[in-house]
Amino acid sequence: MNERVKVVVEAVVASVQAALVDKQVTELEYRTAVRYLMKIAEERETALLCDVFFNSTVVATKARTSQGSTPAIEGPYYRDDAPFVGERLKTYDTDDHKPLLIKGTVRGADGNLVDGVTIDVWHSTPDGKYSGFHDNIPTDFYRGKLRVGAGGGFRVLTTMPVPYQIPNKGPTGALLEIMGGHSWRPAHVHFKVKAPGFETLTTQYYFEGGDWVSDDCCHGVDSRLVIPDAVEDGARVMNIDFVIEPAHAQSGVGA
Ligand code: DHB
Ligand code: FE
Repeated sequence: MNERVKVVVEAVVASVQAALVDKQVTELEYRTAVRYLMKIAEERETALLCDVFFNSTVVATKARTSQGSTPAIEGPYYRDDAPFVGERLKTYDTDDHKPLLIKGTVRGADGNLVDGVTIDVWHSTPDGKYSGFHDNIPTDFYRGKLRVGAGGGFRVLTTMPVPYQIPNKGPTGALLEIMGGHSWRPAHVHFKVKAPGFETLTTQYYFEGGDWVSDDCCHGVDSRLVIPDAVEDGARVMNIDFVIEPAHAQSGVGA
């Protein structure tokens, strides 16, 4: 017997049962929903559907107890095999290429510098694709690992990502549409900040004034993750002072 599984599953089941009663869901609607879930599995969209509705809730729960920077959803496009990079990410020189300077610092929750920090950064191309997943764009484009200097600083040049449409041709997209919603995420840059002895921080940052910032289909935007509109040397600037928290023992299922 696993007590944690029992407690969580019983609570989820009770919430769903309460909704079925409250909305007086019919047998026909129930059968339609079961057929829909079978289609989700068939089209391999189980992760996508769960991410759209629930991942940001789990992340926000973690954010409430974290002493570090605000976490955000990881999304499906992290690649651990991305290379270390120098002063700029590899990008294509396209017409809609707009420069972006990402810089900042990393400190521990006590305010001290941290040894051995690496920052994974990844974001979309100027046409909304992710390298290593779409159009055979090599994995070393639009992503890389940054080393943090002795003074806690980092800095890398790249190009602006754009709003991103999650896969919308399948049953997840169909459900969002039938509910009067949409499948867009605001432009964002993903980060994973790692250091020995510290919790890994997975987060993403958004651009003030950007489309969909206040209407993300994945509900992933927290106001603390929206970067003010600023320009430096002709580049939009994303300036972030990351705070990471010491590693703590995890409990529960899957730890
Ligand atoms: C998805 C894609 C992303 O780039 C992201 O940041 C979050 C979610 C998705 O397709 O589900
Ligand atoms: Fe993303």
